[in-house]
Amino acid sequence: MDLNPQDLLAEAAAAADAATTLDQIQAVTGQFLGKKGQLSEAKKQLGALDPEARKAAGQELNETRQRLQDLLDARRLVLQSAERAAQLEGERLDLTERLTELQRGHLHLVTQARDRLEDVFVGMGYHVAEGPEVETAWYNFEALNIPEWHPARGSFDTIFVEMGEPESVMLRSHTSPVQIRTMENQEPPIYIVAPGRTFRTDTADATHLPAFNQIEGLVVDRGVTMGDLAGTIDAFVKAFFGGEVKSRLRPSYFPFTEPSAEFDISRADGSWLELGGCGMVHPNVLRNCGIDPDIWQGFAFGFGIDRLAVMRYQLDDIRELVNNDVRFLRQF
Ligand code: PHE
Repeated sequence: MDLNPQDLLAEAAAAADAATTLDQIQAVTGQFLGKKGQLSEAKKQLGALDPEARKAAGQELNETRQRLQDLLDARRLVLQSAERAAQLEGERLDLTERLTELQRGHLHLVTQARDRLEDVFVGMGYHVAEGPEVETAWYNFEALNIPEWHPARGSFDTIFVEMGEPESVMLRSHTSPVQIRTMENQEPPIYIVAPGRTFRTDTADATHLPAFNQIEGLVVDRGVTMGDLAGTIDAFVKAFFGGEVKSRLRPSYFPFTEPSAEFDISRADGSWLELGGCGMVHPNVLRNCGIDPDIWQGFAFGFGIDRLAVMRYQLDDIRELVNNDVRFLRQF
C-alpha cells in the first residue's frame, strides 16, 4: 500500500492550519476524507492484499481516518467560535452613548407658564375652574350675549363639529364658556380662573396656532368696579413678569362685557404688546345665568398663555412650542 499515514496526517494538519474560514476547512475536509482523497484510494487497493495483510492495513486506514477526522473537527470548532465572536462583535450595540445622554425631563414651557399663572391667581384668592373643549353654541356664544345673527360670531373663526344641527357643536374658540358654566353652578361671590385649550381655524404661523391655550378670569361680587379689574391685571402682570413691566387698558368691544377693554403690557423697548381682552360682565350674561345684575357685578378677562410664554422667553416663533424639538425644550 503506497500510503504513509504519518505524511498524510502531517499534510492534513498543515492544510487545516492554513484554513482560516469555515468554507476553507470544509474544502480541506473534502480533500482528505472525500471519495477522491488518498484515504479512499488506499481503501480501494485493500482488495488486492491477502487476508492477513488486508486486516492490518484496513485497521491502520480506519485509525488514520479517525485521526484525520479529529484533527479537522478540532480546527473547525476553533474557526466556528472565532466566526461567532466576530459576528457578536459586529452586532454589538454601543449603549454607553444612551446612558450618558439620558436626562431627567421637565414640564413643558406652556405648562410651566400655566402653573405660574394659576399660582399667582390662587395667591389672590381665586379658584381654578375647568370646562370641556367641545362646546355647544349656547356656552360658546349665546349665553355670552352673542346671538346667531351677531357679526362677532364670524370673528371667532370657529371650528365646528359635525353633530346635531349645523354649527351647534364646536371646539371652543375661547375659554369664556367656562364663565357661564361656573355661574350656572355656583352662587356669587365667584373668583375663578380657567386655563385650557382653545381652537380656531387659524393656519399656524410665527404668531398663531390653531390649537392654543387661554386663561379666563371671572369675578362676581357686590360693588365690583372697573378699578378692581385694572388693579387685578396690574397685580398679576407684576407678579408674573416682575416689577418693571407696566399694564394699560384700551377701550374695545366684546359682546359679553360692557364696558370692554383690551389690555397691553409694556416691553423693554417702550412699545406695548396686546395680551388679551377684558371688561365688566354684561348684565345680559349675568341674567342668562340667573344672577341679578342689580345686586351683583363682575369683571372678566381672557388672554393667551402661549403668547405669554413667547413674550416671557422672547421666542421668535410660537410654533417652537409645538414642534417638540427636545433641543429647544431642554433650554427651559
Ligand atoms: N374671550 C375673549 C377672546 O378670546 C377674551 C375676553 C375674555 C374678553 C373675557 C373679555 C372678557 O378674545
